[in-house]
Amino acid sequence: MAEWWQDLFDEKYVTLFAEARGPLHTAQEVEALTTLLTTHGAPDGGQILDLACGLNPIALPFMGLPHDVDYYAYDIHQPRIGLINDFFTSQAIQPLAEVRDVLLNPPQISAGAAFLFKEAHRMEKRRKGCSRELVKAIDAKVTFISLPNRSLDGQRDLHQRMDNLFEQISAGLPGETGRREFPGETLYWIRKTDG
Ligand SMILES: C[S@@+](CC[C@H](N)C(=O)[O-])C[C@H]1O[C@@H](n2cnc3c(N)ncnc32)[C@H](O)[C@@H]1O
Repeated sequence: MAEWWQDLFDEKYVTLFAEARGPLHTAQEVEALTTLLTTHGAPDGGQILDLACGLNPIALPFMGLPHDVDYYAYDIHQPRIGLINDFFTSQAIQPLAEVRDVLLNPPQISAGAAFLFKEAHRMEKRRKGCSRELVKAIDAKVTFISLPNRSLDGQRDLHQRMDNLFEQISAGLPGETGRREFPGETLYWIRKTDG
């Protein structure tokens, strides 16, 4: 049987990426994520890692996820994490957001899925190759990475560059890789095969 995230990141995810995952569209993104997860369900239990999470986790209470899903979210920005945990607490959700530099200290939790959205290309500016090291260091059945299709000013086409980056990140890692393009971003994934 297909796992929840396969469904999530297949056909139905088009809406989210097409309409909501532009760099400046956090509100719409949260709204679309809400609709998506409410409509299509979520995992029974398990762990999710949201790496360099920004405000993504604010969507969690609206995702229709079972309460036994542990949503671990990491960001270096303390006020953001404080806000997320306050919000989680107010919703009776475990405040599992943590201030952490995931490059220096990758989480060691075994997870069903890990998200690295909109940040790997920026991380590379800090240290070339670091996003691959991060992906290698975490333990997730599937790691989803989203990268932009165009530069922030809209002037430059980044498809080739981002495809190349994903190739560098995933080169030689065990598992299947995939790619799905949306108007604003491309979603890539590495799915560990058994063993
Ligand atoms: C462009 S936002 C992306 C947020 C979110 N992933 C999304 O899809 O909306 C980048 C976030 O990554 C965080 N960040 C950057 N480097 C990080 C690192 N090494 N460890 C943890 N968080 C990091 C920043 O503080 C910021 O909140």
